[in-house]
Amino acid sequence: MFRTHKKYRIFVTRRIPKEGIDLLQKHFRVTVSAHDRPLTARELDIQASRADALLTLLTDGVDGAFLRRHKHLRVIANYAVGFDNIDVEVATKLGIIILNTPGVLHEAVAEHALTLLCALSRRIVEADRFVRAGKYHGWSPNLLLGTDFFDATLGVVGLGAIGTSLAQRACQGLGMKILYTDVHPHRLFEKHYNAHYVHLDTLLKHSDFVSVHVPLLPSTHHLFGAREFRLMKKTAYFINTSRGAVVDEKALVKALKAGSISGAALDVFEHEPILASGLTKLENVILTPHIASATRSARVAMAELVASGMVLAFSGRRPRNVVNPEVWQRYHRR
Ligand code: DGY
Repeated sequence: MFRTHKKYRIFVTRRIPKEGIDLLQKHFRVTVSAHDRPLTARELDIQASRADALLTLLTDGVDGAFLRRHKHLRVIANYAVGFDNIDVEVATKLGIIILNTPGVLHEAVAEHALTLLCALSRRIVEADRFVRAGKYHGWSPNLLLGTDFFDATLGVVGLGAIGTSLAQRACQGLGMKILYTDVHPHRLFEKHYNAHYVHLDTLLKHSDFVSVHVPLLPSTHHLFGAREFRLMKKTAYFINTSRGAVVDEKALVKALKAGSISGAALDVFEHEPILASGLTKLENVILTPHIASATRSARVAMAELVASGMVLAFSGRRPRNVVNPEVWQRYHRR
């Protein structure tokens, strides 16, 4: 059983599934933001100054200056697997534990990427718009012709849990061939899925679909720009469910307009929720509002994971979802 920490105050920056809040309330004094919107920097500052720990979202900017102003915080649990909204280096220096949500949303995100792939290749969104606009006047041999995905090549950029799950489904379920890039090769994966580890440029030249699954880091910022889109096949499709800033969105719009690639599906945007000019005018683009992990079960699992991680951390037991284990080791040598 966990010890009780009712003396600790947790501030939750936006309502998350009840399962997480209920668990937190058993152990802490919990305040959930009264607003159903991202807080302003000033609102977050006020709440952080009164709390021992924060449960944040990817829309909360937790930069170095914020962390230095709130050195007293013990834990920040981010309700996302990505943590590019937090300056982890500064948090680590200050001894603030950062938690995230690995291992509970990769299937949901992979399913969303797969859904986008199928919808792009068979022009589902375009076809729906066509019918609703009253343009359907009967069967026609050349109407809305799509692309096969059977035997086509999927290029997976980043073979973490999400990229792996997508590749498995695409290979076993759709009969696709797999190329991938990552920081190192995964030989067992290659054997199981007849996949090939290649340089990014080679992947771009040979893939019919390119799906991005890398974290946002200084080294992946604008990983995809004009040069990369030029390398892709004119018939290829680009899918991004990772982070918007991995893509130079203006360059993508240009590439789509120029016909350098056939189409794109984006769940994330460089300057969310603002979109690059011209993006919404393009017929060959599918846009979803950062919902790749938005299945009920994934969102509940994320809420339970951040809440149980918080409870463990305050009990002096190491949660599995610590982003900066150095801090943990510094305080709990065991
Ligand atoms: C994440 O977890 O990083 C997603 O972008 C939101 O679920």
